[in-house]
Amino acid sequence: MRAWPTKTLSLGGDYNPEQWPRAVWDDDVTLMQRANISFVSLGIFSWSWLEPAKGEYEFEWLDTIMDKLHAGGIAVDLATATATPPPWLSAAHPEILPVDVLGHTLWPGSRQSWCPTSPVFRDYALALTRQLAARYHEHPALAMWHVSNEYACHNLPCYCDECARHFRSWLRRRYESLERLNDAWGTAFWSQRYTAWEQILPTRHSTTFNNPTQVLDYKRFSSDALLDFMRAERAVLDELSPGVPVTTNFMTLDHFRHLDYNAWTPTVDVVSTDHYIVDALEHPRSELAFSGDVTRALAGGAPWMLMEHSTSAVNWQPTNHAKAPGQTIRDALAHVARGADAIAWFQWRQSRAGSEKFHSAVVPHAGPETARFREVEQLGRIAGRLGELVGSRVEARVAILHDYQAIWASEGPCLPSSELDALEAARTIHRLLHDRGVTADVVHPGADLSSYAVVVVPQLYLVTDEHADAVSAAASAGAQVLVTYFSGISDEHDHVRLGGYPGAFRDLLGVRVEEFFPLGPVETVALTDGTGGWWSEDVQATDATVVESYAAGPLVGRPAITRRDVGTGSAWYLSTLPDDDRLGRLLDTLLAAAGVEPTVAGLPVGVEATRRRGDDGSWLFLLNHTDLTHSLAASGHDLVADTAVAGSVELAPGAVAVIRET
Ligand code: GLA
Ligand code: ZN
Repeated sequence: MRAWPTKTLSLGGDYNPEQWPRAVWDDDVTLMQRANISFVSLGIFSWSWLEPAKGEYEFEWLDTIMDKLHAGGIAVDLATATATPPPWLSAAHPEILPVDVLGHTLWPGSRQSWCPTSPVFRDYALALTRQLAARYHEHPALAMWHVSNEYACHNLPCYCDECARHFRSWLRRRYESLERLNDAWGTAFWSQRYTAWEQILPTRHSTTFNNPTQVLDYKRFSSDALLDFMRAERAVLDELSPGVPVTTNFMTLDHFRHLDYNAWTPTVDVVSTDHYIVDALEHPRSELAFSGDVTRALAGGAPWMLMEHSTSAVNWQPTNHAKAPGQTIRDALAHVARGADAIAWFQWRQSRAGSEKFHSAVVPHAGPETARFREVEQLGRIAGRLGELVGSRVEARVAILHDYQAIWASEGPCLPSSELDALEAARTIHRLLHDRGVTADVVHPGADLSSYAVVVVPQLYLVTDEHADAVSAAASAGAQVLVTYFSGISDEHDHVRLGGYPGAFRDLLGVRVEEFFPLGPVETVALTDGTGGWWSEDVQATDATVVESYAAGPLVGRPAITRRDVGTGSAWYLSTLPDDDRLGRLLDTLLAAAGVEPTVAGLPVGVEATRRRGDDGSWLFLLNHTDLTHSLAASGHDLVADTAVAGSVELAPGAVAVIRET
């Protein structure tokens, strides 16, 4: 087994050699060496090639490519190959197929057509994992196990009868009695009282709104069901391949919210994630940074792995834009700036056939003599120089709270506004901090908040007492705490906290809200010093200073932004989402009160700055996302250009500098 991670910034990619004649394999290894690729993820969708018939295994091809990769000095992140069952399995056992909310079977013909709780699927998947673990544990190319692939990407939630049975078992463990379940689900409403466990169903398509707590519990159950599956795969690996690190690739990107990754991290040795830029987003650069900051928090602040991103266009957006020249390097280093120590692409060689033949790759259809491949080669040379920063950590004094369960609840049926996106407030505040050169950790509310000077609580609709107490404790201990609208409204069962909103934070903030006044997507409300959007509410400042008020509409004269001094800190409340300018100025006030300095003062718009610090020094990342040249104060050695920097660095359009500071 090879050591992982190595003392170098590792580059890698998904490698699917079974799509190519063997003559290509030797070229692949040579080209990987040229590009300084040090690892590949192998076998992710290879089940039908490894087990062409039940219990009949064909490992010769995998042996051959593992040997070739090892001879070429390339480490292997070997898949358990269980992401997609082969056609013979689903033909023999159609009961393994997932079922959608309407009761339609999701047929084979694509990928990941399996139900998370199917015992039959599990038996077959574990049998394959067992074969692979036993056969390759000793192989010198093996560096890590890659379990399944992007859990829940296509097969969650499943609403089949098997899932219904597992859901009931999960509920029995959670509530122990039907009485407690009926209380938690509020079944006194709409005649939903259950008198036997067998009456309970998944939240299938119904006449109108499903019970919101049942919906929330079905999401919790679905995430746990896949985690249980991952644990079962991991148990096989622990038994037959002990000591080899295990990962599965998370999806901490904007549009994926099915899994509560906070519960998953104890089951992986290395936190890895996939990230793709969504062109339709208004601020795709900030979303990339946000994703990195989420992933770093999942890794407990330690370095993490970017398991997939694209060298250029993807194939699943309405228009798949190619990346600009230089962007392949800049995007990769943007993840390193957020704490990644390994960077990989989907995929190594662009497919000739299949659904992803127009998805970019390291080796494009046009071959390696291309601008795109040369750019990866250039990144390979840069990565060679970045080994010294591997293991260092990103500095952040601001925490933004992020909880998948709160997001699920705030996406539930029949809320005061279906236009609110739980991540919108979080990402807006993160973006404005990012624009100021201030790095934030995007952490779970259960994280240790004691090291943060600023704690942001963005639309944390559902919150436990324990987490609400932790936020109050952070303020008392000296943090500037900023809570936004529609936070602290409900408890863990999604029951509203009574006595005035925002129940869980009412005392901390010294405010009491009697009624919400949501705003539609194009509505705004005038504030005394700006405008608000998305939301407004009737706030009374019971024990808080009014910082700003509504200047028009039904709430004219009522508080919009308040502050309450608590211990040595303060608790600020935002009852609407102010425009960027106003919110930015508010953040400046909080940062100044907290003594938080930007990584680089006076950062030009479109230039990103972070700092990583390790035992041996610090590294300043500067990324120029603009078409202009910018000159910034820095001193040390730029590892990208490999030149000394004395006092200032000139950043060309699109350029990145990684400066070992002196
Ligand atoms: C996901 C999958 C890959 C590939 C890429 C394409 O991340 O894990 O197999 O389909 O998307 O963007
Ligand atoms: Zn199912």
